[in-house]
This record gives sequence, structure tokens and C-alpha cells, in this order.
Amino acid sequence: MHFQWYPGHMTKAKRMIQEDMKLVDVVIELVDARIPLSSKNPDMDEMAKNKSRVIVLNKCDLADAKYTESWKAYFEKRGYFVTLVNSKKVGGMKKVNDAVRQACREKIEKDRRRGILNRPLKAMVVGIPNVGKSTFINSIAGKAATKTGNKPGVTKGKQWIKINKNIDLLDTPGILWPKFEDQSVGLKLAFIGSIREELLNIYELSLELIRFLRANYKGSLSTRYNMEESDDPMETLCCIAQKRACRIKGGELDLNKAAAFVMDDFRNGRLGNITLEFPGISDAKEK
Ligand code: G4P
Repeated sequence: MHFQWYPGHMTKAKRMIQEDMKLVDVVIELVDARIPLSSKNPDMDEMAKNKSRVIVLNKCDLADAKYTESWKAYFEKRGYFVTLVNSKKVGGMKKVNDAVRQACREKIEKDRRRGILNRPLKAMVVGIPNVGKSTFINSIAGKAATKTGNKPGVTKGKQWIKINKNIDLLDTPGILWPKFEDQSVGLKLAFIGSIREELLNIYELSLELIRFLRANYKGSLSTRYNMEESDDPMETLCCIAQKRACRIKGGELDLNKAAAFVMDDFRNGRLGNITLEFPGISDAKEK
């Protein structure tokens, strides 16, 4: 399978992020906890240099907890402040607040020395499509959040959300683009649903996922579909089609429908907590 990302409005997106970057103290970068590296655009390091950085490992409710911890350590070792988040769950955003304040402690200290107390930190959220930026902003903003509106002169045309007395958040996230030359990165982005479905062959994609699961999460499919897994992904998909009564007219197995089931179940966490790439290992086991 060959994956391609169509750059589209990439240059415009980059320009907008660079403009917004001038307005903030701290960048909150969302990545998908199941593929923290593949969902992270490496250009961000250049764009956000001189800014405080927080990485949010989002969708950690879908990822494998032991690897999420290893990823946290991996990024911390590289100087980021890291926090684990399930943006769909209410609450749990205090640790984001703490991470932001920790990341900005030098600025807070500098302010304090100048006698400036309690100046809110200005933050922006960035991430590739589908990583959960809108959900995260809604969650962190909560019901109590008030839009502070334009701040004339300084932030013309920009809307800010007052998260609490410590943080003002730019209400439009920066949309990064996934970046890959390596096809295995494209494959992982496709697994989690970050590449447009019409560009994909869902049948082939599911066979790749089944192969990955057999090698790294043996038993996840047999538990879900109550059947025997096989070393042959095609055979496994046929079993799933049978179990789920996926048939086309005439009674033949409908493998595309079964493939769609597998992908949907994986993306919604119904196959268990699964991480697709592991820190320190170039890639997951191949079978
Ligand atoms: P974006 O702005 O970065 O493009 O992402 P968005 O917030 O639209 O989220 C993309 C999908 O990911 C949504 O699912 C959203 O519910 C889901 N999501 C976001 N954060 C989390 C998280 O921490 N955990 C889990 N499990 N899911 C998360 P959707 O199916 O596209 O929409 P919906 O049916 O949930 O509304």
C-alpha cells in the first residue's frame, strides 16, 4: 500500500502558525498516544524554538499504558514537559495546567522579579488533524470558560479563552500536517484514521493491522470476535467475516465489510489498549 499526504494548504497553515506563535509564551502540542512520533510534525521544533513546550499524549485511554509511560519518559528526556490526557473525559485538566506552569517557570520567575504577579500565560494548541485538538480545547476550557474577545492592539482579530487565572488560550488551534517519507508512518496514520478514507484500500489496511496485532497483541482479535486467530491475516479476516455474518448477495463472504468492522473496532478501542509504535525500537515487530 502506498500512502501520500496531499500538502494542500500546508504553506498557509505554516504561515498562520508562525504568526500565532508570536503571540504566545507556550505551545501545547497534541500527539496521539498510540503513535507519538508518527503524529508529531518535526517542523514544530524549528517553529516553536524559544517557546516553552508541553507535549500532550492525547487519547491515552486508547493506548497501552505501559508504553505511554515509556513515551512520557522519552519526551521528558528530550526536555519537554509531558502530560497524559483523555480529552473525552471530564476533569483531569489540572495536570495540563501544572505542566504549562512548570514549562513556563522561568518566565513566571522573571515576571516575579520585576514585580509582575499573576500575569496569565498565553498558550496555543497545535497538532495534526484528528489528534483531538477541538475536543481538548473544549475539555480544558470547560463550561466556565469565557471568551475574552479581541485584545486591541496586541492580538487584533484573535479570540482568547480564559482557562483560569493563570492561562489564556488562543481559541483556534494550529493545524499541522503529518510529515512522512517513511511509508510505515503513513500506515500508522491510516490505522488511527488520520488519512482520508477514500485514499485508502480498507481491505489491505485491515490485513496490515491484523498482521501487526498478531505479532504484537496476540489474542486481541480472538477475544473480540470469539474465534481462532491464524498466522495468515487473510484467514483471520475470513473468520471475522463469518463470525460477523458479513456476506454479499449470494452468500459469499464480504471481506470489505469485515475489514471496516476491524478498523472501526480498533479506532474506538474495542480491541483493547493498543500502541502502534514503541520508544527505542525502530518499529513494531513484523511478522
Ligand atoms: P482535531 O480537532 O484535532 O481534528 O480532532 P477532534 O477534536 O475533532 O477529535 C477527533 C476525534 O478524536 C473525535 O472522534 C474525538 O471525539 C476523538 N477524541 C479526541 N480526543 C480523544 C481522547 O482523548 N480519547 C478518545 N478516545 N477520543 C478522542 P470522532 O469519532 O471523529 O467524533 P465523535 O463522534 O467522538 O464526536
